[in-house]
Amino acid sequence: MGQSILLGVSGGIAAYKSVDLVRRLRENAHTVRVVMTQAAQSFVTPLTFQAVSGYPVGCDLLDAESEAAMDHISLARFAEKIIIAPASADVIARLAQGMANDLLTAICLATTAPIAIVPAMNHRMWHNPITQANVAKLQQFGYAVWGPDEGTQACGEYGLGRMLEPEAIVTHIENKNSVTPLHRKTIVITAGPTREPLDPVRFISNRSSGKMGYALAAAAAQSGAKVILISGPTALAPPKNVQLISIETATQMYETVMQQIPQCDIFIGAAAVADFRPTTAAPQKSSKNEFSSTLSLTANPDIIRAVAQFTPKPLTIGFAAETHDVKLHAMRKWENKGLDAIIANQVGLAEGGFDSDVNSVELYSAEGMVQFPRQSKIELAHHLIEWISNYYGKQTKDSIKNIG
Ligand code: C5P
Repeated sequence: MGQSILLGVSGGIAAYKSVDLVRRLRENAHTVRVVMTQAAQSFVTPLTFQAVSGYPVGCDLLDAESEAAMDHISLARFAEKIIIAPASADVIARLAQGMANDLLTAICLATTAPIAIVPAMNHRMWHNPITQANVAKLQQFGYAVWGPDEGTQACGEYGLGRMLEPEAIVTHIENKNSVTPLHRKTIVITAGPTREPLDPVRFISNRSSGKMGYALAAAAAQSGAKVILISGPTALAPPKNVQLISIETATQMYETVMQQIPQCDIFIGAAAVADFRPTTAAPQKSSKNEFSSTLSLTANPDIIRAVAQFTPKPLTIGFAAETHDVKLHAMRKWENKGLDAIIANQVGLAEGGFDSDVNSVELYSAEGMVQFPRQSKIELAHHLIEWISNYYGKQTKDSIKNIG
C-alpha cells in the first residue's frame, strides 16, 4: 500500500541520486513530498524534484508563498515516514542539537512520524567522533540510520560514507520493520514479581520469572523505541539497549513508574505486582513464635490503573494471568482498569504462563480479540510488539486527523 513519504534532501553530491529515489517511490504508488535544505539546492534544483514528485518543493521555513502551500506543521502531519537522503554531517549535527533553523529540521522536531537518515559524506567526516556522537544521539532518540556504504567517494577517496543506492533505500522504506511507529517513542515496561517484606529476611512474593516483560523490553528496543524496564527481582540479564531500573516492593515500583509516566508514550504492565503487603515489616528478623496465625495486610496501589488515569494517558496495556474463566476476568480488568488492551493467558497448566519459556495468549482491545498461539516468549514478544506498534500507529494517525 502506498505511503505518504516526506523526503528531506540535504547538501551533498548524492542529492542527484535522490531524484531517482523519488521516481522509484512513485512507481511503487507512494506519495512523496520533497523538502530541501539550502545547501541541497546548490546540487539539484527544486524544479527537478517538483517535476519528479509532482508537488511543489518546500525550501524555506519563513517564505510566505511556501508557507501558504504547506507549512512545516502540515508537512509534519502529512508524513507517515520521513527519510533524509542524503543526510549530510551538517544536517545530522543540527538534528542532534534539536535545531529548527530551516524547514527540514523544523518538520523533524514537529513530527510524530518515524525518521530515518541516510548519511552521505566524506569518510573522514563520517568517522569524526563528533559525527559519530551525533548519529548515536539520534539513534538514542529512535532515528533509524541506513548506511552509509563503503566505496569510492566523489572526492576520489575510498571509504565509508557513500549514500545507499536508491533501490536499497526503497527496500528499507518498504520493510515494515525498518521504521516502525515505535521509533523515538518511550515505552515503560514493568516486569517480574515484587517482594513485600515481613522482616529483613522474609517476604511475600509470587511465581513470576519476569521472562515475558524482559522479552517485550528487548523486542521494543529492537523496534527503535526507548525502553525503560522497571523490574522486581529476577534471575535475568538486562536486555540490550534497555534502561533497567531495579526495585523490590510494589510501592517502589509505583513510585518509579509514576516518575516516568509524564515522558511515556506506551506503558506495558507485565509485572506480577503483589496485591498486598504486610502492614508492618519488622526491623529485625522475627522468631517464628512471633508470627501469629493471622497476618495484617495492606493493599498495594494498582499501578496500571494509576497510569491509565494519568493525563495525557499513554497507550496502556496490561496482562491478566488467570487460572479459569480467562476471557471473563480479562474483560473485567480491561474495563475496570481503563486499559487500551489486555493480554490474557491461562496459568496453572502443566506448561505456559509463569516461569515457562513458552506461552499462548489472547489479546483484547476495542478492535476485538486476537489469538497468539503457543510459541516461545521471545517470538511472542515480537508479535505482541508488532501488534502494539500497528495499534499505536493507527491511534496517533487518528489523533492527528482529529486535530487537523
Ligand atoms: O488485577 P491483576 O493483578 O490481575 O491485574 C494484572 C495487571 O495489572 C497486570 O498488567 C499487572 O502488571 C497490573 N497490576 C499493577 N499493579 C497492581 C496489580 C496489578 O500494575 N497492584
